[in-house]
Amino acid sequence: MGNAVAIISTIVVNKKMKKKIVEKVLEEMKKNREMQVSNNVEDVVIEVGPVETFLNQILNEKPMRFSSQQLAACTRNYSSELGSGGYGVVYKGELPNGLPVAVKVLKVSMNKRVQEAFMAEIGTIGRTYHVHLVRLYGFCFDANTKALVYEYLENGSLEKYLYGDVEGSTATRLEWEALHGIAVGTAKGIRYLHEECQQRIVHYDIKPANILLTADYTPKVADFGLARLGERENTHMSLTGGGRGTPGYAAPELWLALPASEKCDVYSFGMVLFEILGRRRNFDPCHGESKEWFPRWVWEKYEQGEIDCVVSCDGVVGEADRQKAEMMCKVALWCVQFQPAARPTMSSVVRMLEGEMAIVPPANPFHYVMDSNIGSTNSGFWSDTYQSSRETIGRDSELSVIRAVVKST
Ligand SMILES: Nc1ncnc2c1ncn2[C@@H]1O[C@H](COP(=O)(O)OP(=O)(O)OP(=O)(O)O)[C@@H](O)[C@H]1O
Ligand SMILES: [Mg+2]
Repeated sequence: MGNAVAIISTIVVNKKMKKKIVEKVLEEMKKNREMQVSNNVEDVVIEVGPVETFLNQILNEKPMRFSSQQLAACTRNYSSELGSGGYGVVYKGELPNGLPVAVKVLKVSMNKRVQEAFMAEIGTIGRTYHVHLVRLYGFCFDANTKALVYEYLENGSLEKYLYGDVEGSTATRLEWEALHGIAVGTAKGIRYLHEECQQRIVHYDIKPANILLTADYTPKVADFGLARLGERENTHMSLTGGGRGTPGYAAPELWLALPASEKCDVYSFGMVLFEILGRRRNFDPCHGESKEWFPRWVWEKYEQGEIDCVVSCDGVVGEADRQKAEMMCKVALWCVQFQPAARPTMSSVVRMLEGEMAIVPPANPFHYVMDSNIGSTNSGFWSDTYQSSRETIGRDSELSVIRAVVKST
């Protein structure tokens, strides 16, 4: 009997313990579930936070809209200036997720028409992606601040690597192979704008300052799609009233107010090729009269069968390099032909530079300057085109001579 009582009481105790254990387990499970829920809540907070919003918007292929306060915060009150150009000043910044950016604060005055163009351009530029084009992440369109937020390129513009006299010039000397790669990459970026992207884009301002370099010197074309934002400062062409192009790189049709097409980018690219070949500015009085305007000197050497003089400039070593330099020389001469129709398309330029297309001997691109006997020296005319538009008063007579030449050709 005593045993039976002991067994029954053990069962009851065990049942009580079991109940307690079950209760304990349930309590733990509940706690865990609550913790999970609270963790999920945190996840949700991250998802709607600035990093995720940013990434999602990138995935949605939409440029982000920033407020002026956000831009001030991400540039630490515009404390680090990267440079300035015709549209305004460019500052270094960092988005909340640590992504470095370049913020271009626009100085251009915006009437209603330009404002509409700005929004249209944002839509186009923000959806134009290519490995050789600088990416637009977003923009600011507040009452007092109009700005564009771009991907940041560590090595800045090609200018620094071509001329020794640019502020911020580095001691890094780019090998010939790297320069050739930069020429090909840039040509591919422009080809994409002209021939491959959904909405065809003419850049109008191809020049070394608008070719930016990543940490490993991959070139990316900057500032495409800005041409319609109106008149810029007087460092740029203004004869045609469009403010398009930069003296020295702008095609004749831009400064002669003739109809312009994507071929004006081909011309400017040719001028960049000359500067890459010579590692110098095309117009530089330091080089003595015969060489002060490099493109014409290159043509003369080519015509005299002395192209080796051009390509034996330092940095070109070995037969493969020599061939590439010679190709680049001929392509440059084709690109700067006076008549737009005589210039190649950018896809032909790419193929020629990559050695996939034979290069027909180029015609003289400068006969209109040579024949018209403008100025005391032929390069005198070109020195004028390199000055700011403010300094070119009196060029009207020269332009009328050229117009006459154009009509007669
Ligand atoms: N995305 C960027 N990443 C790094 N540096 C940049 C970037 N954009 C511009 N910069 C720097 O800022 C400088 C000024 O650029 P900006 O485009 O304002 O002038 P520009 O190219 O000389 O003239 P333009 O107004 O005709 O484009 C560049 O030369 C470059 O050094
Ligand atoms: Mg620029």
